[in-house]
Amino acid sequence: MTMSDDPTKPVFDAAFRDKLAELFAWRRDVRRFRPDPVDPALLDDLLRQASLAPSVGFSQPWRFVLVEDPDRREAICQNFETENARALAAYSGKRAEQYARLKLSGLREAPVHLAAFAEMDPERGHGVGRRTMPETVPYSVVTAVYTFWLAARAAELGVGWVSILDPDAAARTLAVPEDWRLVAYLCVGYPAETHSDPELERYGWESRVAVEDCIYRR
Ligand SMILES: Cc1cc2nc3c(=O)[nH]c(=O)nc-3n(C[C@H](O)[C@H](O)[C@H](O)COP(=O)(O)O)c2cc1C
Repeated sequence: MTMSDDPTKPVFDAAFRDKLAELFAWRRDVRRFRPDPVDPALLDDLLRQASLAPSVGFSQPWRFVLVEDPDRREAICQNFETENARALAAYSGKRAEQYARLKLSGLREAPVHLAAFAEMDPERGHGVGRRTMPETVPYSVVTAVYTFWLAARAAELGVGWVSILDPDAAARTLAVPEDWRLVAYLCVGYPAETHSDPELERYGWESRVAVEDCIYRR
């Protein structure tokens, strides 16, 4: 069976493609936020766009938690500070000095904390595509997180991904169901600075690899 195009299909012209390339290049992981609040309607809109992301078997396993309670936010900040100290202890010498200087979260400044969980055995999708690779469930949540990240950047918002957390402790803090797995803990807000290069590159921690070095042929 062949189907013709939907007549409402949009045209993505060269000017749009140029802007899209700029969006990819100027998306940043943001850890330095202004205190200005984020309009809840904008946040809803971004989560709606994130929910258009692809998912294994169309299972849509993303579960977003807006962390508003001050005590829970404080517990997450302390979770990060404990785990970050533990991470620092694993380095020595110059690397340890460098690590200690990095700012690896904006948890205390960001007006919005958003946790993205995966419901690990969702009813939706009826198991299509994940029998061989169950990890495609959290991968699906990552696609939503990245969609959110880009949509947020296009709306002048910054997003910072914090993975230096004990995920089980974070799940307990947020009182989510047992079968939800933490995929991403995001700080969201208006950035205090704008840069074209990653902060970890600017602070001498790591540099960008040439794309040619990541492409193999067999
Ligand atoms: C899965 C994942 C986890 C990350 N965790 C952290 C984190 O805990 N702290 C942090 O400062 N940045 C974190 N980042 C952001 C990366 O450091 C950042 O993406 C990278 O340095 C490149 O910078 P850019 O996103 O500005 O291009 C994470 C990014 C990803 C994709």
